[in-house]
Amino acid sequence: MKINGGKPLQGTIKTQGAKNAALPVMAVALLLKGETLTLDNVPDLYDINTMIELLEALGVEAEFRDSQAVFRVPDELKWEAPDSLVRKMRASSLVLGPLLANCGKVSLPLPGGCSIGSRPIDLHLKGLKQMGAEIEIRNGVVHASVKGKLRGRRIYLDFPSVGATENLMMAASLAQGETIIENIAREPEIDNLAATLRCVGVPVELEGTGGVRIQGIDKAHSGRERVIPDRIEACTYILAGVMTNGHIRVEDVVPSHIDAILAKLEESGAKFSVRKNVVEIFPSRRKLHPVSIKTMPYPGFPTDSQPQMAAALSISRGVSTIEESVFQARFLYAQELNRMGADIQISRDVAIIRGVDHLQGAGVKATDLRAGAALIIAGLAAKGETTVEDMVHVWRGYEAIDQKLRALGAEVELV
Ligand code: UD1
Repeated sequence: MKINGGKPLQGTIKTQGAKNAALPVMAVALLLKGETLTLDNVPDLYDINTMIELLEALGVEAEFRDSQAVFRVPDELKWEAPDSLVRKMRASSLVLGPLLANCGKVSLPLPGGCSIGSRPIDLHLKGLKQMGAEIEIRNGVVHASVKGKLRGRRIYLDFPSVGATENLMMAASLAQGETIIENIAREPEIDNLAATLRCVGVPVELEGTGGVRIQGIDKAHSGRERVIPDRIEACTYILAGVMTNGHIRVEDVVPSHIDAILAKLEESGAKFSVRKNVVEIFPSRRKLHPVSIKTMPYPGFPTDSQPQMAAALSISRGVSTIEESVFQARFLYAQELNRMGADIQISRDVAIIRGVDHLQGAGVKATDLRAGAALIIAGLAAKGETTVEDMVHVWRGYEAIDQKLRALGAEVELV
């Protein structure tokens, strides 16, 4: 993407459906037999299409048009997830729990590491074992099976992993009896999954204390649910507005989902208003104040917004710090931002960001999805031309980002 930066963004855009909510709720289809799952507000993204291909490879008939995805599930599913698809996307591991619960058997190549850290799935496997699964890893492939049905249990997650919470909630849906999972992830995407499980007939109760109670059922029925708005996408545009000193409205936001980011923007002196489901960013003559941030599981500051926030802070007036506590290696974008004139030093899991007067356009590479987003918004604020290579990462999570930016008056072009 070629960006001619330095222009304040102006206009209104609408948030897409959340990638990270859509992926697990699509996997709910694997709990059905001879029934249909319909999902609305599904974003058109590489990762969504990979999940569709994966469901198709497992025997589901899928139709995806105008933000609506319809999954017709046969009486018999296949239980082997193809290596090529699992390698494309780590979230493929979300099929493990529902397939095992529905078919009694599953084989899934281990998703492996990625550029933001090692990302094991030990917590997913530990929980499934507690529910009676037999699990063996041979030649990098997880083979899981269960005699009869999975058994409802009390499970304590050692860390509130988003993926493990989702996998185990789906597995528990068809288990014998009641499952209580403690110390679960409380991301809004988990509520969306709970609602989707309820819509196919699974009694799910999220408890305020960080637990979930699920009553296993014999058979799930057809259902329809809506994917929540993408809080990370919304914040990317909000930060683009702030960084370019623009005047933009981001619609279809659930403000309570982005409290942590809005709180930091307020602390840094950004000018904005929040009304119902709209966040409006106003131009300001003053640069942002520096802030200290630590990423945490929800409702803490999301690790997925950390690179974009670093881009915004790179032109603040002072020294900011961002501590990454969720992933091991999520600062690869720093050297790319530094190519644009930013002054970011990494010391273990902390980024020390010294605000500079302005960024300068440069040729940079997206090392992962959110790093790509950070470089794009930096390019919008920078003087001169920026070229972001390896856009393939960005298409995994941002629907029509070039069109949306042009709607806000940005000069961007795909080459
Ligand atoms: C999800 C999101 C991702 C986001 C992350 C944290 C999706 C598709 N992806 O990823 O965008 O950045 O939540 O908000 O929803 N861990 C283990 N063992 C496990 C599972 C996780 O050690 O079995 C570790 C991971 O290595 C990582 C941390 O826990 O360091 C958080 O991972 P997790 O919450 O599971 O994230 P994902 O579900 O992979």
